[in-house]
Amino acid sequence: MGKLSRIAWLYIGSVVAAAAFAVVRGPFSGIQWDQVVALGLLLVACESTATLLNSRCLAWSANTTASLASVILVGPVGAAIVGSFTLLGIRRSPSLTQRLFNTGMFTLSAYLAGKTYLLSGGPVGTPQPSSFPGVIGPFACAVLVHVTVNFSLVAGVLWLTGEPGSAAGKVALDFKLWVTDIGYAAFGVLIAALWSVLGPFTPVLVVIPLLAARWAVAQFAAQQRAYEATVSALCQAVETKDLYTRGHSERVSRGSVMIAREIGMREDRVEAIRYAGMLHDVGKLGVPTSVLQKNGSLTDDEYAAIQLHPMRGLDIVREIGFLDEALAGIMHHHERIDGRGYPMGLAGDEIPEFARVLAVADAFDAMTSDRSYRGARPVPDAVAELRKWAGTQFDPAFVDAFVTAIDRDGWQVPEGAPADAEHATAADVLSAGVLSIVGRSGSTPNGTGMNGNGHNGNGRNGSGRSGTVAPAGELDDPTGPLRAIESL
Ligand SMILES: [Fe+2]
Repeated sequence: MGKLSRIAWLYIGSVVAAAAFAVVRGPFSGIQWDQVVALGLLLVACESTATLLNSRCLAWSANTTASLASVILVGPVGAAIVGSFTLLGIRRSPSLTQRLFNTGMFTLSAYLAGKTYLLSGGPVGTPQPSSFPGVIGPFACAVLVHVTVNFSLVAGVLWLTGEPGSAAGKVALDFKLWVTDIGYAAFGVLIAALWSVLGPFTPVLVVIPLLAARWAVAQFAAQQRAYEATVSALCQAVETKDLYTRGHSERVSRGSVMIAREIGMREDRVEAIRYAGMLHDVGKLGVPTSVLQKNGSLTDDEYAAIQLHPMRGLDIVREIGFLDEALAGIMHHHERIDGRGYPMGLAGDEIPEFARVLAVADAFDAMTSDRSYRGARPVPDAVAELRKWAGTQFDPAFVDAFVTAIDRDGWQVPEGAPADAEHATAADVLSAGVLSIVGRSGSTPNGTGMNGNGHNGNGRNGSGRSGTVAPAGELDDPTGPLRAIESL
C-alpha cells in the first residue's frame, strides 16, 4: 500500500474496529480455550505460508480452513479470536497497516460466518457422528458468508488504494479463487470431525495436506505471473521498436477492460481482453522498423506491410495457449462496422466482439495521446469523435459503454510525449488519420490522406500534401474503398 487517502484509512480503521468490537463484546462462556489456541496456531501456520498472487502484493493463505473449523468447534466469538491470530503470522511482506487490516478482515469473516452457522441451526462444539449431517447445511452457509466477506473486504481496500476497476474487481470476481477458498473451507469440517478422535493433535495432522495443497495454489499463482511476464515482454518489444506509441498498449488494455466490465462481460473474458489490449499491436514486430519509423509519405508496399500487422500479430502469438479469445481481437482490431476495415473487411457482428471493443479503446487512446505533429485532443473532443463514428467505424454499444465508464471513472491521459515534429514517423502519419480516412479509390496509395483532427500543420499527413487540414470525416468518400487507420 502506498500513501493512503483519508477514506482508505477510515475503511481500514472501521474494519479493525468492528473486528475488535466483535472480540471484546464476547460472550466468552463455554469457549474451549485449548481449542482456540490449537486452531489459532494452525491459522498462524497457514498465514505464515501465504503465497503471493501478483505484483500488487496480494497474497493467498489457507486461513479459511482454521477459521471455519473454529466456527463449528468454538462458535462465533471463539472463531473471531482464532481469526485474530492472523496478527501473529510470520511474513515479511505485509506492512503494519496491511497486517492490521488482514487481521481485522479474518476476524470479522470468522465472526460473521460463526453467527451465520448459529442462525442456521448449526451445533457448536466437538461434533459427534450423530451431529452429521445436521452440521453440513449450516456449515455451507457459514462458508459462503466467510468467503464473501473476505473477498468483499479485500476488493474494497484494493478499490480505495489502487486504480478503480483494476485489481479490485479481479479479486472480487475471480471465480478460480472463490472455488479454491471454498475447497479449503471444506477442510474445516474435516478438522472439526476429527477433533473428537485426535483432539488438539488434529491441526498437526491437517497442516501437512494443507501445505501440500497450498503448493498447488502457489504453482497456479506462478503460472499467472509467467503469463503476465510473457505479455509484458512482448509489449516491451513492440514499444522498443515503435517509441512513439509508448504506453499505448497498456492504455488500450485498460480502456478495453473498462468497456468489457461496463457491458457485464464474464470475468475470465475480461482477463482475456486485457491481454488482447496489451498485445493488439504485437504484429508491429513483423513490420520493418524502417517503415514504422519512416518520416514522410509511405509507398504502396509500405502501406501493405503496415496493414499486415494484425495477421503478423496472430502469427506471433497464436501458439500462446492462454490467449485464447484474445487472438480474434488481435487479428481484427482494425475492422470497421461498415466493412471498410482490414485485414478481412468484416462488417457488423461478423467482427469478433473483442475486436470491436479494442477498436474503440485503440482509437480513443490514439486521439488523447500526443503525437509529434499535434497535441493530444481533450477527452470530450475524443468522446465526441467516437460518437460521431459510432455505427460506421465503431460498434455504437461499445462506444456508449466506454463513454459511460469514462464519465464515471475518468480517464488517465498519458503524460508528455515526443513533440519534435522533425522526427515524425510513419506511425505518427498513420495515427493522424484518427477516425478519418487515409486513402480512397482512384487516389494514390497514400490517397488524399487526411488527418482527422484538424491539428496537422506540418505537412506530415499521409498524402504528402503539405498543410492539408480537414476535420475528421469531412472528406469521407463513401463510394470508395476507404481505409481508416486510427493507429497502428
Ligand atoms: Fe493496430
